[in-house]
Amino acid sequence: MTASLVFVLNGPNLNRLGSREPEIYGSETLENVADLVSREADSLGLAVDFRQTNDEGELIGWIHEAVDRGADVVLNPAAFTHYSYAVRDACAMVTTSGAKLIEIHLSNPATREEFRHTSVVAGVATGTIAGFGSGSYLLALRALAR
Ligand code: DQA
Repeated sequence: MTASLVFVLNGPNLNRLGSREPEIYGSETLENVADLVSREADSLGLAVDFRQTNDEGELIGWIHEAVDRGADVVLNPAAFTHYSYAVRDACAMVTTSGAKLIEIHLSNPATREEFRHTSVVAGVATGTIAGFGSGSYLLALRALAR
């Protein structure tokens, strides 16, 4: 049986994890997170494609690719969470296609500045996991593997 494919996609500034506001995001780098994700995926029998971009258009292109390949998506939209209707519309294509999309965050945006309390993605996501650091990624994989 072929392992089911999951795109793990990361939005802007997440390539700076480790040095970016460590009091909020912790000291792990994105490379550390990718390693943890890869190990968890192996143990769950999932095939993972892990990517990061600072570019909205590139992220949308990857979401389209996930739809075309029938992949589930774990998405940390980063700041796009709060204002990108274009990312939201792309995410809606994932969930209306019958695949799953889990919105994740390292921090818990609900406890932070007011502008972070709105997610334009949440309404089209299968579910949301926030506040567990890199554990948010691993919990999302477990939810998809169930
Ligand atoms: C984030 C939360 C967002 O508000 C922020 O813009 C990020 C990271 C998180 O993972 O906690 O860049 O998505």
